[in-house]
Amino acid sequence: MAIIYLEEKRLFAISGDAVSYLFGFDERGLLKHLHWGRRVDSPGDFGAGFTGEGTANDPAVDILTEEYAPWGGMRFKEPCLKVSFADGTRDLVPVYREHRIRGDLLSVTFTDAHYPLELILFYRMMDGFDILERYAEIVNRGKEPFTIHRAASAEFHFPGTGWHQTNVYGQWAAEQRRFREPLGYGRKVLESRKGSTGHNHGPWFILDRNAGEEEGTVYFGALVYSGNFKTVFEVSPYGNTRVITGINDFDFAWVLRPGESFRTPAVLCGCTGGGFGAMSRGMHRIALKRLMPEEHRGEIRPVLYNSWEATYFDVTCQGQLALAETAAAMGVELFVVDDGWFGERHSDHAGLGDWYVNRTKFPSGLAPLVDGVKKLGMQFGIWVEPEMVNPDSDLYREHPEWIYRFEHREPTTGRNQLVLNLCEPAVAHYIVGVLSSLLSEHDIAFVKWDMNRAVSEPGALNLPPEDRQSVWYRHVLAFYGIVDELRRKFPRVVFEACASGGGRVDHGCLMRFDQFWTSDNTDALDRLEIQEGYSLMFPAKAMRAWVTDCPNFLNKRTIPLRYRFHSAMMGSLGIGGDLKKWSPQEREESAKMVAMYKEIRHVVQEGELYRLSTIGSGLAALQYVLSGESVVFALTRGERYGRELIPLRLRGLDRGKTYTVDIDGFAYDKSGGYLMESGITLHLPGDYASIMVRITEK
Ligand code: GLA
Repeated sequence: MAIIYLEEKRLFAISGDAVSYLFGFDERGLLKHLHWGRRVDSPGDFGAGFTGEGTANDPAVDILTEEYAPWGGMRFKEPCLKVSFADGTRDLVPVYREHRIRGDLLSVTFTDAHYPLELILFYRMMDGFDILERYAEIVNRGKEPFTIHRAASAEFHFPGTGWHQTNVYGQWAAEQRRFREPLGYGRKVLESRKGSTGHNHGPWFILDRNAGEEEGTVYFGALVYSGNFKTVFEVSPYGNTRVITGINDFDFAWVLRPGESFRTPAVLCGCTGGGFGAMSRGMHRIALKRLMPEEHRGEIRPVLYNSWEATYFDVTCQGQLALAETAAAMGVELFVVDDGWFGERHSDHAGLGDWYVNRTKFPSGLAPLVDGVKKLGMQFGIWVEPEMVNPDSDLYREHPEWIYRFEHREPTTGRNQLVLNLCEPAVAHYIVGVLSSLLSEHDIAFVKWDMNRAVSEPGALNLPPEDRQSVWYRHVLAFYGIVDELRRKFPRVVFEACASGGGRVDHGCLMRFDQFWTSDNTDALDRLEIQEGYSLMFPAKAMRAWVTDCPNFLNKRTIPLRYRFHSAMMGSLGIGGDLKKWSPQEREESAKMVAMYKEIRHVVQEGELYRLSTIGSGLAALQYVLSGESVVFALTRGERYGRELIPLRLRGLDRGKTYTVDIDGFAYDKSGGYLMESGITLHLPGDYASIMVRITEK
């Protein structure tokens, strides 16, 4: 682990175990990217060298692989930083001033050639993970404010053209659908303008030329941010490829006053020679060991029950207790009452904002339910959606001024609700206060934190007009601030991030929430694709998946219970069906599946994931490996008669060791080498056939 500065070459080399990242100053003092890839042991071989001037039409500065391009001079490429000064100048000339190496953190500081603007670039190689963290800070050292119009987190360079980018696309209940496409000349943008990350794309990038699941070079970077993001891929006419990622500059402006500083969200980036699989495992590892909130990071996630699909808004103390009893008998460990327990919340038309118990539904308050659940040996959890308000609520009647809106415009409702102006300190104070009461008055172990609409008419009327385009970033910072404060006050509580399912699945939330509600789509087959896309960047431990009723509420599909369980057992298992309607046989089978899950969940939640085969090919097969134990889930939609059975070659085993393979009670012994070369052959006849295979070292 090292950060080296070679004075004579004016070059920085940051190295992890297997990777290095190099950049240095050219003869004009511009900071030039030099290398990102395999570890370099003789950085002195590199040098930023001579850039020259280029031509009037093709200026060198436009072609140069700059570490963090400002907008200024003859630059026509996508910039990282764009500001305007009080006198109208909109041009930056950052000049190197100093650098510091403090432990694992490198900072390189620039000052504008004339204006008192300071730009600091930060780099940290995360010990043991080969993941580089990058972010930037802008400081106003002068006496007048200036405005930041764009401040990306980082810029990355990839030699030549011919790269492919991988991301996910989708919508509500159909998030996380993986795609890969070639990058052609010009700019391509993936972004969100919805105030949150949204269901459409992920705030991360993956680039490769010809990588496969387990081979080939893959570069990747994930933005630690939960709001409007923008990732620009630019294949320049000069034959180079760049990626710039950070806060979206759409409708963004931040006035930086004297003495203030502005820090961008961080990007966590890395590269691997082991294909998409190694990339995911690297990101899972750092999530499990370093990024997820520390208090609960090492805990195995309990089997959860959530009442949403069973009761929707028709929540009563008796009804919930009846569900709790059945859930407990199946082996559930955490019972969560979803929407509908508070205010006048009888549908999605009213009640949001009124975070007190509805006394008709709970005549003696929440206590009888919480106590009942605890007596059944389970923990109790609850749903909230704190950033929102229904116009039909006491909160809105009392504080109609607490929402985002523009003057002379009717604010648009979405799911009959409006977004609270978190930039108003009184609003943040109210949310912390009301949730603190809820959490201190009851023994609540789990909070599902929802966010069910995008932000529109983002007018924070409490801010001075010149500050109002900062609202997008301020909202996210305030949201983080509220969650952080609640976590500080209630460290025992586990928090789940939900935004109409997976609308806020990002590393900003991963660092504050213990898990995600992955999607509102609980169909076991659709889920396989959603879960695969999710697994690119996020770990199984943080992926909640429920077994629900059939026909499924969304697509009316009927799938065997066993398959539904296998699909949900690939993450942190939950149950979300209307248990009153489940037959005794179904309850019994469920109890067996839950017991089975408890035996293997440490492998799923903490093991290394190998995507052996993806549902796009007709067979979803995922393998989890933890020390000498391994589990494979294989699920098909329907096998065709006569199809040649292709063995699944296992991964992550020790070639020289012997393993017992247990396929539904049929067991045999084979060497790791055999299982990785020849594999296991599964016969899965019928529709929606699925199997769980256990592989245990002898
Ligand atoms: C969102 C969530 C669901 C459920 C409902 C409640 O859609 O994603 O899981 O909590 O809200 O209204």
